Formats: sequence, structure tokens, C-alpha cells
Amino acid sequence: MDIFRIEGPVQLSGSVKINGSKNAALPIMAATILAPGKSTLKGVPHLSDVSVCGELLGRLGCKLSRNQNDDLCIDSTVIDNPVGEYEIVRRMRAGICILGPLLARYGRAEVSMPGGCAIGDRPVNLHLKGLQTLGAKIHLKNGYIIAETPNSLKGKEIFMGGAFGSTVLGTANVLMAATLAKGKTVIESAACEPEIIDLANALNKMGAKISGIGSPRLTIEGVRQLHPVEFEVIPDRIEAGTFMVAAAITASQLRLENCRLNDMMGVVDKLRSIGVTIDAQDDGCVIARRGTIKPADITTQPYPGFPTDLQAQFMALLSLAEGNSVVIEKIFPDRFMHVAELTRMAANLRKEGQVVIVAGVKKLIAAPVMASDLRASAALVLAGLAAEGTTIINRVYHIDRGYERIEKRLNPLGAKIFRENV
Ligand code: EPU
Repeated sequence: MDIFRIEGPVQLSGSVKINGSKNAALPIMAATILAPGKSTLKGVPHLSDVSVCGELLGRLGCKLSRNQNDDLCIDSTVIDNPVGEYEIVRRMRAGICILGPLLARYGRAEVSMPGGCAIGDRPVNLHLKGLQTLGAKIHLKNGYIIAETPNSLKGKEIFMGGAFGSTVLGTANVLMAATLAKGKTVIESAACEPEIIDLANALNKMGAKISGIGSPRLTIEGVRQLHPVEFEVIPDRIEAGTFMVAAAITASQLRLENCRLNDMMGVVDKLRSIGVTIDAQDDGCVIARRGTIKPADITTQPYPGFPTDLQAQFMALLSLAEGNSVVIEKIFPDRFMHVAELTRMAANLRKEGQVVIVAGVKKLIAAPVMASDLRASAALVLAGLAAEGTTIINRVYHIDRGYERIEKRLNPLGAKIFRENV
């Protein structure tokens, strides 16, 4: 098992190119199921979640390869085993997003019911409700969702809002299924995340007829078939946000290339209020922090609100603010595995339900800590960059799920992160 040894504190400088978005790539990979033939996806990062998704598609019958440009080629000509196995879906919940496309293409799908994870229960009731509204018959058997379309999928009006707002992968699943349904589907309270916009753009390039893209009301005119595409995924706004916090927490200046500030206005606004400068440039930005870190109140919300996927990283940053901050988690109320670990590094945090009061401290002190989920682990890496001494992070495989060799990206900028196999 790999661990990280991080020597801190460090200052960073230089330029880093942001990779393609994990959370855009995964559903777009699933969307290739809908378009028999060979699709070419550009900018798909080398992450363990992408490999697991590839394995999942491979078991269905797809053939995957990387070409000389490092594009991911998916040949979905043959799909003869419409089953998402437990052994794979338990490793990556996003595996659930093959359900809609399989149902639309094959008329039947068996996908393991994803369990909970470190960030909460993570139900899929809205995915199932949406697909049932389109006419799917769904039942559960031995932990599997068995979905069938005895009379093919038919377009309908579907309300997708839930107790925590819209659902990203639920919207993706129903949107993909609706592209091949008969007639018109309206998804109301659809997720508006840039990753859903990217998916809808990819589907339209495959021949789907989706309008209202980027709004909470998606309208889909069903078509008879989709064709393969060449498509480039958007840059990863969460990776970009993580590098922004890296600059901010180490009082450094960094240039980010391939970064779309337009997808990150809630994050940029918060960083500016914290005392960080962000200057837009051609295809990216320059980010710097010179003065002290000001406290802030953060409430996570569906897009365009502040993303839950950056909550942990910002908590690490606010631990060093001059004053008290409040962090409220409204998407995944239990997503606070990093609190106890940051506390081990001398952060002063008090958790009350889905609220954490962050009392700024003068310095963080290195400690051995445990990575739990992907973003919590990123927060520990960021804390390790600023902390005095040697931070040891165990279970770094969590980080590898969503950040491509983060040490190889940060070390050229001045970080001292060593991956060690123990
Ligand atoms: N929810 C339901 N019922 C459902 C689906 C969701 O109640 O059927 C609830 C969830 O429990 C949660 C809220 O709705 O309280 C939002 O969850 P959502 O469905 O939007 O999450 P997701 O689609 O499973 C994606 C990202 C997550 C990200 C969330 C929120 C991918 C592969 N995953 O998950 O990313 O946190 O949206 O933005 O796109 C990560 O990258 O670290 C990560 C966890």
C-alpha cells in the first residue's frame, strides 16, 4: 500500500496544466454505450476511477484502448453482457451511470445497487424514479437493480429534485436513457453542473436532440439512434480548485493552464473574499496569496453554488485563517471524514451536525493521518504542504481515484511529496 510523506511547509511557484474532468469523463464514457461503433474521447485523465469505468465497459463487451495521442477509444459495437457487476460498482459508485444507456440500447440492464461510501448513504432512488417514469420496469434482486423495458422507453415529464436538490448522476442516467426514448422527455430540476452540460453536448454531437442545456429544465426529443463521436472533455474544475487552494494555503503564486474560471465563479468569489487574487488569462489564470487568510462562511450547494467536492480542501485553508469560519455541508451532510484528521494536524474544528466551526490557528503541525475519501485526502495533502514537519498520509489510493499522480504535479512546483510503498 502506498503512503505519502510530505515535508512542509513549502512555497510553490510555476505553472500547472489542469487535466480533463473525471466527473465529465465517467458519464461520457458510459454514453458511448448508446452509440454503437468507435468513439474517441480526448482529455480523459489517467485515474483509477477511469480504469475501473473502463473495466466495467469492457465486461459489457466494449473494447477500450488509448491511441498515440493518448485519446481514449471506446468501441461499443458489441454489447452482449448488460451487467454491471458488484465487484466493480462497489469500487466506483459512478458505475451506476451505465444503467440508463444500457436500458436504452439493450432493453435490459442488471447493475449492482451501489452501497454507501465514506461521504454518506448515497441513495439512487431518483435515478430509478426517472427511469421508471420513462417506462422501465425495475426490481431488486440479490443486491442488483434489474431494469427492463417491455414496451420500450417513452418520453415523459420527470421531476428530478430530491431532498438535497438535483442529482448529477441521476440526471445523467435519465438524460442518456431519454435520448433514445420515443417522443419528448422533459427533465425538470435537472442538475446544471458543467459536467452535465458536457455530457449533453457530447450526446448532441452523437445525434441526440437535447435543448435547455445548462438550465434546470432539459428537453429531449428522442431519436432512433446515436452515432459514435470524437469529443474532448472539459477541464476538471475540482482539480483546478484544489491547485488554487494549494497556492493559497502556501502563500504562493501559481499559473493554472486549461482552467475555465467560468465554471468556477462560486469558488473564485470565495477565494477572493479570503484574500486571494485571481487574474484571468488566455486559457487559465494566475492565482496568488500575499496577505493573511481571511475567514469565510461556506455553504455547499448544487451548481452554481459552492461545490461539495471542494469543501474539505477549503476547510484545510480556513484552518489557517485569522478568525472564525463556518462551513455548512448541504449536499452530503456526513462528508466530514477530514475533520478528525485535520484536528490531528492542530486545526481547531468543532462539528455540530452538518456544520463545522473553524477557529483559525497560526500554524498546522504535521502528523500521521488517514485518507478516507478522495476529496478529504486532497485536503490532507494541502494541509501537509503548509504544516510544519513531516506529514504521513496513509491509504493514498483514495487520492489516485481523482488526481493523476498528484505528487508529480505538485513537486515540480516546489512541493516535497514522496510516495512510498509500505
Ligand atoms: N440523492 C438522492 N437520491 C438519488 C441521488 C442522489 O437523494 O437518487 C442525493 C444524494 O444523497 C446527495 C444529493 O442527492 O445528498 C446529490 O447527490 P448527486 O446524485 O448529485 O451525487 P452523485 O451524482 O452521486 C456526483 C459526483 C460527486 C459529487 C456529487 C455532487 C460523479 C462521478 N460524482 O455524485 O463527486 O460530489 O455529484 O456534486 O460525478 C467526487 O468527485 O469526489 C465526488 C464524490
